[in-house]
Amino acid sequence: MVFGAGGGIGGAVVEALRALRSFEHVVPFGRSTSPAIDLLDEASLERAAAVAAEKGELRLAIDATGFLHDERQLPEKSWHELDAAKLARSFALNAIGPALLMKHVLPRLPRKGKSVFATLSARVASIEDNRLGGWYSYRASKAALNQLVHTAAIELARRHPEALCVALHPGTVATALSAPFAKTGLEVHEPSAAAAHLLDVLDRLSIDSNGGFFDWRGQRIPW
Ligand SMILES: NC(=O)c1ccc[n+]([C@@H]2O[C@H](COP(=O)([O-])OP(=O)(O)OC[C@H]3O[C@@H](n4cnc5c(N)ncnc54)[C@H](OP(=O)(O)O)[C@@H]3O)[C@@H](O)[C@H]2O)c1
Repeated sequence: MVFGAGGGIGGAVVEALRALRSFEHVVPFGRSTSPAIDLLDEASLERAAAVAAEKGELRLAIDATGFLHDERQLPEKSWHELDAAKLARSFALNAIGPALLMKHVLPRLPRKGKSVFATLSARVASIEDNRLGGWYSYRASKAALNQLVHTAAIELARRHPEALCVALHPGTVATALSAPFAKTGLEVHEPSAAAAHLLDVLDRLSIDSNGGFFDWRGQRIPW
């Protein structure tokens, strides 16, 4: 299952999985698929998980949804820009929506054999790595996502000892999300390359990686 299949990275992950042919079905979900998902509508997430589960064992779920900016909201440069409604919106999309996805997907993972739920977080969520400041809503909502992933991973291990629940940083990827912040000198990956990196990392992760936060090279990121 791929959530956020209409996004830059999510779309590339769907294409990469189809090309791999390792899975019997690749089931994309987005706001324009049928059934559609909306992170703000829990019933749509539950329905998507159930629809995918009907097709066979759920071995891999990738959540490539996420929110940084749109016409209503830009990342904050200063505490002067903090706004309760905008903070709440970032948390709803980047932390609460993915948490509800975990609620409906994790119990459906197989009890035996490797299976993975991976959600796309961001290195800027790392508290230890935060030297620049700014981007309050995005950083904090993705840090909340990391804590939700780590907590769910502990519960998951009790009944699904071979399953993994992890957070991944895809690197800087040329998508609509990163476009307004493109700077020269940054290492920027095409979505197809990012998808290949992420699938390679997921393939290499072993059970001691459950609950962790990894970058596109497979290296652990400090919390
Ligand atoms: N690009 C980067 O450099 C970069 C760096 C670090 C982390 N990330 C993370 O990687 C993930 C994917 O980002 P991207 O670069 O591929 O961005 P993107 O192209 O903007 O994709 C974002 C995805 O989130 C989905 N989404 C947003 N609001 C939603 C909602 N209410 N309900 C359901 N889906 C919703 C969008 O769905 P629609 O297709 O329906 O609009 C889209 O599929 C995000 O979590 C982002 O934070 C990206």
